[in-house]
Amino acid sequence: MSAYLTTINRLRIVRIQEVKRESPTVKTFTFHDRICSKARLGQFVMVWIPGVDEIPMSLSTMRSDGRCSITVAEVGEATKALHQRKPNELFGIRGPYGNSFTPANGSVMIVGGGTGLAPLVPLAEKLAELSTRISFVLGAKTRDELLFLQRIETVLSKADARVIATTEDGSYGSKGVATDPAREILKRETFDMIYTCGPEQMMYEMLVLAERYHTPLQASLERLMRCAIGLCGSCVLGKFMVCKDGPVFSDKQLREVKDEFGRFKLGRTGKKVSI
Ligand SMILES: Cc1cc2nc3c(=O)[nH]c(=O)nc-3n(C[C@H](O)[C@H](O)[C@H](O)COP(=O)(O)OP(=O)(O)OC[C@H]3O[C@@H](n4cnc5c(N)ncnc54)[C@H](O)[C@@H]3O)c2cc1C
Ligand code: FES
Repeated sequence: MSAYLTTINRLRIVRIQEVKRESPTVKTFTFHDRICSKARLGQFVMVWIPGVDEIPMSLSTMRSDGRCSITVAEVGEATKALHQRKPNELFGIRGPYGNSFTPANGSVMIVGGGTGLAPLVPLAEKLAELSTRISFVLGAKTRDELLFLQRIETVLSKADARVIATTEDGSYGSKGVATDPAREILKRETFDMIYTCGPEQMMYEMLVLAERYHTPLQASLERLMRCAIGLCGSCVLGKFMVCKDGPVFSDKQLREVKDEFGRFKLGRTGKKVSI
């Protein structure tokens, strides 16, 4: 095993520096980790909550001074335990794991929903530096659940960019889901790349739109993960291991697993369950 793999696979205990409530169900935990601060865009860490579980989380911040963060939706036992953690308390991490987004030049569309926005925000920060033209579409059920809006607007204010927010109840931005404005914009404009992360149905719809408008796409997927290094098979998606071959997949790769993408995932017992 290379020295780099040995280093990232070692469990590190990190101290929580800050806890920020992003929405009624989502919190961001900031910590210092030199290794994660060098992670590539879209990579994830395995977060160990002692006595509870170890779960995958995207890095929502990776700063060169070592400051990093994860942004966590409370959905079950492990994320509930994490939500109870306070500044100065500890959790474990290993990683970063997986492949990464490839930043594109030209004109790009970013489409995200829920905590799927976590890896897309650092990506947008990088794209803004590359003077790429950015259309960022973000969606949530309600205004309260619309994540990172201020951070996205601040980052993109200096770039050639527009931000389009949607909420399902119409409490902010346009009423509907993120794919609605994305579909309308794609009818009129061409893009060099679409990036997406969020609910799998949303990403599936973006794949259909990308095919229709002959636009390449990169999507970051979620699956149940245990080892994160391609050994246990928990994260299988057709011929791919999402932890190792992903989490970022191209439109071409997703077409190869179209029977499963947007339809099935493996549950805790190893059986396929509908998405
Ligand atoms: C690469 C990657 C990056 C992720 N990044 C984030 C992130 O930035 N923020 C965030 O809040 N969550 C993220 N997740 C999802 C997160 O790992 C799960 O929500 C978490 O493991 C749930 O643990 P739990 O014990 O709280 O809930 P559980 O009791 O394990 O599950 C609660 C519900 O969530 C579903 N679920 C659990 N794990 C996953 C999963 N990996 N993919 C899809 N559905 C799942 C279960 O089927 C169940 O319906 C990511 C997942 C992956 C694979
Ligand atoms: S999580 Fe074990 S193979 Fe991917």
